[in-house]
Amino acid sequence: MSKHHEEKSKTTPMQVVLASAGGLIPPLITIFLVVQLVLSIQHSHVDKDTDETLAKTVAERIKPVGEEKVADANAPKVVKSGEEVFNAVCTACHTSGALNAPKFGNKGDWAPRIAQGYDTLVKHAIEGIRAMPARGGAADLSDQEMQRAVAYMADAGGAKFTAPK
Ligand code: HEC
Repeated sequence: MSKHHEEKSKTTPMQVVLASAGGLIPPLITIFLVVQLVLSIQHSHVDKDTDETLAKTVAERIKPVGEEKVADANAPKVVKSGEEVFNAVCTACHTSGALNAPKFGNKGDWAPRIAQGYDTLVKHAIEGIRAMPARGGAADLSDQEMQRAVAYMADAGGAKFTAPK
């Protein structure tokens, strides 16, 4: 039965295998060559890159410490601008209006506050008032930084204060 079938179709299993293999070999060779090509290109690149990167990395690592920005306890403290203080501390409550804090940029919230005068606002900001913690909870802020932050916030709410130099 199977012999009969083979004769009829004239295709032996061996032929099928050979035909498939014959069809597969050229693409395989192509893939192999492409991989070789890619690898050789990569290789030449990686070699160059590592040399350059290595030189840079080493230069970075051995560069004198003085060039880095190292926090020096003896260096004069850089006084933050009102905006910097606001973004670092005050924004936590004054952007969202948390705890009923007067919202940044909201003239309605700020008008009655501004009416108290700059000095009173600064005093309240430094000492704290009701839910407003002293110095916004950042005890390391200097009076000058508080003056600047208050001017920055109040001005955004419609005032025209200038923090003393
Ligand atoms: C933990 C939340 C919180 C933080 C942080 C905060 N505030 Fe306030 N602030 C409040 C609240 C609440 C009020 C309203 C207090 C009230 O009048 O009852 C307020 C009110 C104020 C007022 C108006 C005071 C007055 O007399 O009307 C000023 C000025 C002010 N804050 C400045 C600042 C500054 C400057 C910072 C950042 C250094 C800051 N706040 C950080 C919660 C905060």
